[in-house]
Amino acid sequence: MDGAERKKDHGELKKMSAENTKENNIALEVTGISKAFGSTVVLKNVDFSLKKGEAISIIGSSGSGKTTLLRCLNFLETPDTGIIKVNGKVLLDASEMKSLSDEEIRKRRLHFGMVFQQFNLFPQYTALENVMLAPVLVDKKNKHDARSRAVELLSVMGLSDKTDRYPHELSGGQQQRVAIARALAMDPDILCFDEPTSALDPELTGEVLSVIRDLSSRHTTMIIVTHEMSFARDVSHQVLFMDSGIILERGTPDEVFGNPKEERTKAFLGSIDS
Ligand SMILES: Nc1ncnc2c1ncn2[C@@H]1O[C@H](COP(=O)(O)OP(=O)(O)OP(=O)(O)O)[C@@H](O)[C@H]1O
Ligand SMILES: [Mg+2]
Repeated sequence: MDGAERKKDHGELKKMSAENTKENNIALEVTGISKAFGSTVVLKNVDFSLKKGEAISIIGSSGSGKTTLLRCLNFLETPDTGIIKVNGKVLLDASEMKSLSDEEIRKRRLHFGMVFQQFNLFPQYTALENVMLAPVLVDKKNKHDARSRAVELLSVMGLSDKTDRYPHELSGGQQQRVAIARALAMDPDILCFDEPTSALDPELTGEVLSVIRDLSSRHTTMIIVTHEMSFARDVSHQVLFMDSGIILERGTPDEVFGNPKEERTKAFLGSIDS
């Protein structure tokens, strides 16, 4: 190899390494996700990606497909088309879904943690048991380790004094914080929230938003479907505006909230403000 070739080779290597680093930095890559329920097309060719340690907010009017998108990511719905890659590996290829066993689907689902609007805690278990359950049953962690991790997570959620309480003994905001601790206990690559505060009284909303804000400042990779616009503006690196099953507009919070380009986005943000 002569000097010129070596130089060229070096340049190629540098380029490949830069691409590799870029690729390594991507937690989630969603390509061409479509989903119909019967003749109702709910998601149309949805594409987006999310970097490690960053948060995306998804906003949009009721029925625009936000929950369905999260459910597809969590294997709770099967998309008709599309590919989902997590940390550079194909996790879901819609064309191959039929060949996956239930066990395999359960395993792949673990890449995502899901926090629902309605908390969905197990009523017969205490806060601590709710958080320990999946690590012990699904992850086969030993009880001692699962318990210490659950205690730690409940403490991060500001619930150290509630570990032995049952869900019915907790406020909605406290239940939602237990649900967040429960999702974190499985160490998901990506934490998804579907309107985590919309079932809460306004005075309890703040405490839940504050723990999510805290997670964001600790660089938790997150997707947040929310109607809390000022929260979305503060906490996210990227905002997606969904309309009738497509991502109509996307950008930084300043771009989407400060200078929306699409009429539909302007109308939506206007309706929320009023
Ligand atoms: N299992 C289902 N069967 C049939 N239609 C469904 C199903 N799930 C969702 N849909 C339809 O898909 C569309 C999108 O629903 P989705 O719940 O994803 O909207 P969304 O953006 O989350 O709305 P919201 O803000 O009200 O939660 C709606 O028209 C809904 O009726
Ligand atoms: Mg929804």
